[in-house]
Amino acid sequence: MIMKAVFRAPTKRSAQLPIRYLLNRFGCEGRRVDRVQRLSIYSSSNAIFLRTLDQSVTASSALSDAAAHWNTRFAGDDFLFGTEPNHWLRNHVNAFPRGGRVLCVADGEGRNSVFLAKLGFVVDAFDISSAAITKARRLAATSDVTVTYQLADCDSFSWKPGSYDGVAAIFVQFADPALRSRMFARIVESLKPGGVLILQGYTPKQLEYRTGGPSNIDHLYTEAMLRNAFAQLTNLELKVYESEITEGTGHCGRSALIGLVTRR
Ligand SMILES: C[S@@+](CC[C@H](N)C(=O)[O-])C[C@H]1O[C@@H](n2cnc3c(N)ncnc32)[C@H](O)[C@@H]1O
Repeated sequence: MIMKAVFRAPTKRSAQLPIRYLLNRFGCEGRRVDRVQRLSIYSSSNAIFLRTLDQSVTASSALSDAAAHWNTRFAGDDFLFGTEPNHWLRNHVNAFPRGGRVLCVADGEGRNSVFLAKLGFVVDAFDISSAAITKARRLAATSDVTVTYQLADCDSFSWKPGSYDGVAAIFVQFADPALRSRMFARIVESLKPGGVLILQGYTPKQLEYRTGGPSNIDHLYTEAMLRNAFAQLTNLELKVYESEITEGTGHCGRSALIGLVTRR
């Protein structure tokens, strides 16, 4: 992996700066020390390039970067996306078989899993962020419900094929196209026959609103993409729409959204 950033200080001086400072300067402070020691630095005019000597660390460092990024976002006492459930999930929750077993993918601070547990579902949830899981556990405890939380990323989560009556995948647009296709395949496999997926995301138009969600267009959903990704399922509802939403400070304001409810 090569990281490039413009550095205003003269190159000679910057080359003498401690590696830890440089990593911090380039937003890589989440790296472990053994990875830090694998970095070489070379410079070109006022730009600095950091290159990992061992390319095999790239995938795992991307994951630790993602975990560090989300741990930082979830560090405060407040709930970034609020404690109320996502509106699309709340409006379509009756599609889940009553009292069934439900999985919340990348559940964050627990607003959706706790909502489902309060309705009597048996809920499993996972997320890459330990800060999110800690807050989700606290929210479940104060709400007097039980949710089984697992600290895991999408690839390392212990997916159980044919196990769930419902899956909630709400704003899981951290996934690039390759991860998304693995994640969607696992979601479909994990549903029992008759099980229902409720999914919410942003469309590319959201890049005009910038009121939440990723800035990378590859991560956003179109109707055609979702129809294609879940072609083997029976669509109950697929809606592209715009709405004013207030889901914490993280998702707030006019938003370009897409919602899907589909059954295996
Ligand atoms: C926009 S938040 C949505 C959280 C939650 N679904 C909600 O609606 O409140 C995206 C979540 O994905 C999690 N995440 C990011 N990358 C992940 C990965 N590779 N595997 C699992 N979770 C991930 C983040 O920690 C964060 O909680």
